[in-house]
Amino acid sequence: MTKRIGVLTGGGDCPGLNPAIKGLVLGAAYGGKTPMEVIGLRDGWRSLVQEDLAAAGPARGPFFQQGEHWRVLTPMEVDPWDTQGGTNLGSSRTNPYSKKKPQYEQVIRNVEAMKLDALVAIGGEDTLGVAAKLSAAGVPVIGIPKTIDRDLPGTEYTLGFETALQVITDEVDRIRTTAGSHSRTFVIETMGRHAGHLALQGGIAGGAAVSLIPECPFNLARVVRLLVERKLKGGARYSIVIISEGAYPDDREGPFSSGALRDTGFEHVALGGIGEWMTVQLEKATDWDVRCVTLSHLQRGGAPVAYDRRVGRMFGHAAADLVRQGMSARMVSFQDGKVTHVPVEVALDGLALVNVDKEYDKKRYNGRRSGII
Ligand code: F6P
Repeated sequence: MTKRIGVLTGGGDCPGLNPAIKGLVLGAAYGGKTPMEVIGLRDGWRSLVQEDLAAAGPARGPFFQQGEHWRVLTPMEVDPWDTQGGTNLGSSRTNPYSKKKPQYEQVIRNVEAMKLDALVAIGGEDTLGVAAKLSAAGVPVIGIPKTIDRDLPGTEYTLGFETALQVITDEVDRIRTTAGSHSRTFVIETMGRHAGHLALQGGIAGGAAVSLIPECPFNLARVVRLLVERKLKGGARYSIVIISEGAYPDDREGPFSSGALRDTGFEHVALGGIGEWMTVQLEKATDWDVRCVTLSHLQRGGAPVAYDRRVGRMFGHAAADLVRQGMSARMVSFQDGKVTHVPVEVALDGLALVNVDKEYDKKRYNGRRSGII
């Protein structure tokens, strides 16, 4: 009998999701002797917590309408998806294991009713954390890692990172020309909840004076000193400060936040505001004109760069291969330049943060000046 794969994208979107879905559909259709069918599930776990999902039937057209939650994805339909950002399946932060409203039993019932031989979940720590728990409950699951934060353990790459990094680099380039014209200092806030990979690598690629990351609480007086020295001793006309949304000063308990809950499912509070705070502090400590730019969701928007298209395709193909081989409870992973797979439970193993001792210079608040780490 034809194998049936369900695919969903959960959590924050990013460029690279659509290429991975295309890779999965094409791998399922053409990657082996027997074609497999792929069912696209709408809005992450939200589709699978619906009652009567199977009985309600598939979507009537190529776009989901109100009340529709799944449809068969054909190779022809997904053909242009590798060029497209976001996720054409939609996403949500619905958590079937939410303490307030656990719904994982409904998910298990739906996987059975939909006759899914495998469920491919494309997500970060939250989505793949759910996948790992479902896998432990007997659901055949394959994970594909994505997050612009690149903080999932078990893989050296997560879809979306390179595109977000390119956005940061392009925006810093733009800011540098106007900063130079006006001799201004700019503070640029990036995403990165717990991990500073985006801020650090964005700072390196963009040539920032300092890059502040969540893994190393910073000393404000030192930041000011570094910038003043750059200007007075080095003669810099302008400086760029990159600051991760999760970074915070060493005299504070934790990151800046509006306190608002992003979503009830995983109960994350919205981060942000550190860039504005830093701008005010720098203006107080100097007589400079300091401006702030918060890159926010620009970093997750737009078309995927070539790397996210290529890795997305490889991850999608690899997921199809694993299903064809009858494997489950695995997460596709990138290691030592190759695509491989690891147990999906790695998603529950904490986070892959910046290795401050090897990658970060705690005195200069920037990348280490060493080529060999
Ligand atoms: O996890 C990826 C991420 O982009 C984080 O860097 C950021 O804190 C969060 O998602 C933003 O989430 P939302 O789009 O739900 O506001």
